[in-house]
Amino acid sequence: MAKLVGGICCSHVPAIGAALDLGKTQEPYWTRVFSGFEKSKEWFRQMKPDVCIVVFNDHATAFSMDIVPTFALGCAAEFPPADEGWGPRPVPVVKGHPQLAAHIAQSVINDEFDLTVVNKMEVDHGLTVPLSLMFGQPEEWPCPVIPLAVNVVLFPPPSGKRCFDLGKAIRKAIESYPEDLRVVIFGTGGMSHQISGPRAGLINSEFDKAFLDSLAGDASYAKDIKHVTYMREAGAEGIEMVMWLVARGAMDAKVEEKYRFYTVPASNTAVGHIILENAA
Ligand code: DHB
Ligand code: FE
Repeated sequence: MAKLVGGICCSHVPAIGAALDLGKTQEPYWTRVFSGFEKSKEWFRQMKPDVCIVVFNDHATAFSMDIVPTFALGCAAEFPPADEGWGPRPVPVVKGHPQLAAHIAQSVINDEFDLTVVNKMEVDHGLTVPLSLMFGQPEEWPCPVIPLAVNVVLFPPPSGKRCFDLGKAIRKAIESYPEDLRVVIFGTGGMSHQISGPRAGLINSEFDKAFLDSLAGDASYAKDIKHVTYMREAGAEGIEMVMWLVARGAMDAKVEEKYRFYTVPASNTAVGHIILENAA
């Protein structure tokens, strides 16, 4: 049977992708950010996942404001990098896993999660930047990726609790898939940031660190944070953190924290990262 071997959470920032693509990772502004992901690359080399499920958000790239699904599962064989206004990132096409994705869609619908099935999608920095941080700049991504897009751009986004429960349903789906696959789930986006309006530049490290502590524990505080609290404490874009709760919900109640990294800022954003494994 398939097995969930780990959960990782990390921020996405378009400027991180640009720094990688333009060869600027050694510039003083960027060295600390990139140094924080060296251990994660090693963790992935040892973990050797067969498939990654990447919970991410689209930034009005694949989904215009005409149609915004709350939860959309990528069931296609391929997901090309999107052009977000300055050309597609020079990163590999993301190869999907249509069989496992179809199984997840069927399994979670029996747990009352009706996902939008997406058979064609270009993926923006929300998906490609976390892949770059974990895998560097390879010719091909090391394994297939199932994208799960969560609406955090148009009110109302799903609650953290709903995201956590979706994670639990995804875990059941993974464990009922008959092939012996090693699966890692990513929660991406966040941490605190606000990129426009009078509070642009807001970062709240205390809030971010409490969130990380909660994820490493039983997540009972983090999963019950309300929309208005994210908005007030973590800025307008802090709501991206609900995507981390999908990954945490998929893990066991008790987890082991393997690695943590936190730095501010990268562009406007507090960059956080945590690697969790199910406690033995
Ligand atoms: C930034 C952060 C984001 O999450 C995003 O989607 C776009 C920009 C930023 O910090 O610049
Ligand atoms: Fe974002």
